[in-house]
Amino acid sequence: MGDWRDRRTQDGGAQQGTLPMAGTYVVAPQDDVDIDKVEVMPTDLLGREYETFPAPEPLDHHGPARVIAMCNQKGGVGKTTSSINIAGALSQYGRRVLIVDFDPQGAATVGLGINANAVENTVYTALFDPSVDPHDIVQHTAFANLDVMPANIDLSAAEVQLVTEVGREQILASVLRKLKNEYDVIIVDCQPSLGLLTVNALTAADGVIIPVAAEFFALRGVALLMQSIEKVQSRINPNLQVYGVLVTMFTRTLHCEEVLQRIYEAFQDKVFHSVISRSIKLPDATVAAAPITIFAPGHKTAKEYREVTRELVARGIVA
Ligand SMILES: Nc1ncnc2c1ncn2[C@@H]1O[C@H](COP(=O)(O)OP(=O)(O)OP(=O)(O)O)[C@@H](O)[C@H]1O
Ligand SMILES: [Mg+2]
Repeated sequence: MGDWRDRRTQDGGAQQGTLPMAGTYVVAPQDDVDIDKVEVMPTDLLGREYETFPAPEPLDHHGPARVIAMCNQKGGVGKTTSSINIAGALSQYGRRVLIVDFDPQGAATVGLGINANAVENTVYTALFDPSVDPHDIVQHTAFANLDVMPANIDLSAAEVQLVTEVGREQILASVLRKLKNEYDVIIVDCQPSLGLLTVNALTAADGVIIPVAAEFFALRGVALLMQSIEKVQSRINPNLQVYGVLVTMFTRTLHCEEVLQRIYEAFQDKVFHSVISRSIKLPDATVAAAPITIFAPGHKTAKEYREVTRELVARGIVA
């Protein structure tokens, strides 16, 4: 796999391969907020045809939850934003969702309107104090069907403390086991590292979603992440799957097109059809402490997060 610049020089640019270049985008209309409405979108940005993902059917029972680790040790690629917004969309589709904030920065906690410094117990308590029932640590958010297990800076001590714990890789898994029956989906928002906390998330998870920002160094470090996933698969959690790669922060530029193609070359059909655009509305929604699917349901990125959520349901990744 050569550098994309090389390839462009060799074949003179756009026409090589089966993928369409700029000018073939499908732009969805932006004027409705009906979350059941499905846009007609016969090809994705990579030119792959796919069947439109229908709005998820209502569930007639809840749980046990699918556990998804939102994971990439590269910082700022959209892990927290994707956790919050996929969770938001799932909750609007009637799924009961728990976000486990597994980052001492507590961004998911704050992004869902919970003051992480005002709560008595956090995910740190859940890991290290078995006398506390994890149900008592979970906070309800202002949004129906959407709960969070908060985190704050206390969690930064966990990495060191875990080293001497018995069964140190399995502690989050044992916490989540107690909560699984109450939820349809549990999303673990990982911190940007491949340390023991992330290994705990991979051990607890049924599968991983890897958000990748559409920028030049997108794939840097991804090989290391894949190695970590493979180690956890072979040593601790043989059922762990890679559910898919979610491209985020996409803009309609040749550069992003090329990066998207590189990501596709690396991950093939693991790349979700749905791609998240770069938009200032997403940081805005974080400030508003709400998922964009709830804060601005008609916005383009809200639609994109609903689309990826429907894709998760259609692919059988979540109920
Ligand atoms: N699609 C997008 N368009 C524009 N800004 C975005 C988008 N997605 C996320 N952001 C912003 O980029 C920043 C990083 O996003 P986010 O916190 O979701 O990444 P992260 O992978 O969780 O970061 P970290 O590794 O620090 O946990 C945030 O300010 C967020 O609001
Ligand atoms: Mg984050």
